[in-house]
Amino acid sequence: MSKTIVITGGAGFIGSHVVRLFVTKYPSYQIVNLDALTYAGNLENIRDIEKSPNYNFEKQNILDVEGLDALFAKYNPDGVIHLAAESHVDRSIVSPLDFVYTNVIGTVNLLNAAKKAWQGSFQDRRFYHVSTDEVYGALGQTGFFTESTRYDPHSPYSASKAASDHFVRAYHDTYSLPIVLSNCSNNYGPYHFPEKLIPLFINNIIQKKPLPVYGDGLYTRDWLFVKDHALAIDLVFHQGKPGETYNIGGFNEWKNIELVKLLCKLMDEKLGNSPGTSEKLITYVKDRPGHDRRYAIDATKISSELGWKPSVTFEQGLGLTIDWYLENTEWLKHVTSGEYQQYYTKQYQS
Ligand code: NAD
Ligand code: TYD
Repeated sequence: MSKTIVITGGAGFIGSHVVRLFVTKYPSYQIVNLDALTYAGNLENIRDIEKSPNYNFEKQNILDVEGLDALFAKYNPDGVIHLAAESHVDRSIVSPLDFVYTNVIGTVNLLNAAKKAWQGSFQDRRFYHVSTDEVYGALGQTGFFTESTRYDPHSPYSASKAASDHFVRAYHDTYSLPIVLSNCSNNYGPYHFPEKLIPLFINNIIQKKPLPVYGDGLYTRDWLFVKDHALAIDLVFHQGKPGETYNIGGFNEWKNIELVKLLCKLMDEKLGNSPGTSEKLITYVKDRPGHDRRYAIDATKISSELGWKPSVTFEQGLGLTIDWYLENTEWLKHVTSGEYQQYYTKQYQS
């Protein structure tokens, strides 16, 4: 069956994997990549599929209401998969309002555009909002986030994502908009912007720069290979029940310091360094304010209802990721020039 789907944030990290999956797996669909190309958006991330006949790119900011209406009129999409966001916790601590604008107001603009364009005719329409496990706040040593865990965000990033989730559900309850939502754990993989832990540390090991571990390094995250998240998004988009939420996670918890040591070991092997070389770069630095101690997802619902599970182990995924960064030094050079240098100096050398 033919469909037209608008994917927002398709030039970013996760969005580029979702766009690639949909363009290649569904040749009968028209895929519209809507992206404002902020510092995190990069058309190099989807260069390999940009000539596909079912791929369309629209440079569009979700804060521009008229632009969104015009885009919905032009394409009359059957579905929206919304990933565009400001996504980095550290940047949200410095500039919270940017997160309110894009993540909250931008999401409401998109909901309004869909509601207006679809004019109450919701048969076979779908608005899919992609969110994060960070909305649930922090766990202690035990327990997992389920779909019914109470929201308790602590960073401006997670607060803005929590607000956007509430608006998406409100549009379902108030206007019957056929929404579906997922909350996922930390992703890693190719095309990850090197401001987040794993790509930042891979880049710093290549550059022989210090590896800045926040606080005591005992913070825990659940890591998922980005291509497995894209496959989960495909399932939720096509088979998720309207109005429902699905938690997505890797069943893969790591304390930051243990993860960094594994990364150092794998990097030493790939680079032909003697064992222990990269670990010497580990430097404990001032903690992140409001730092959540532990995230862990219970992904039973998506697993039992939709049959999803991660396809690679963490060691496999991390190996693939490191290989990709070592083979794509030009990409890394491009994204770490310009604004990135100013960001890095401000964040780590002040
Ligand atoms: P990213 O920062 O790599 O990409 C965000 C994309 O959105 C970029 O291409 C950017 O240009 C675009 N964008 C930003 N502001 C925009 C605006 N105002 N209008 C239009 N486009 C705009 O983010 P990501 O890591 O790929 O995350 C994608 C989504 O997944 C986000 O909603 C994020 O909250 C969610 N998420 C991320 C993770 C993770 O580990 N990265 C985990 C769970 C959920
Ligand atoms: P990050 O990749 O920013 O993802 P999130 O904050 O969304 O979980 O950070 C992952 C973990 O790594 C988090 O506990 C913070 C920590 N961290 C560091 O210790 N040093 C760093 O330089 C960065 C960017 C993160």
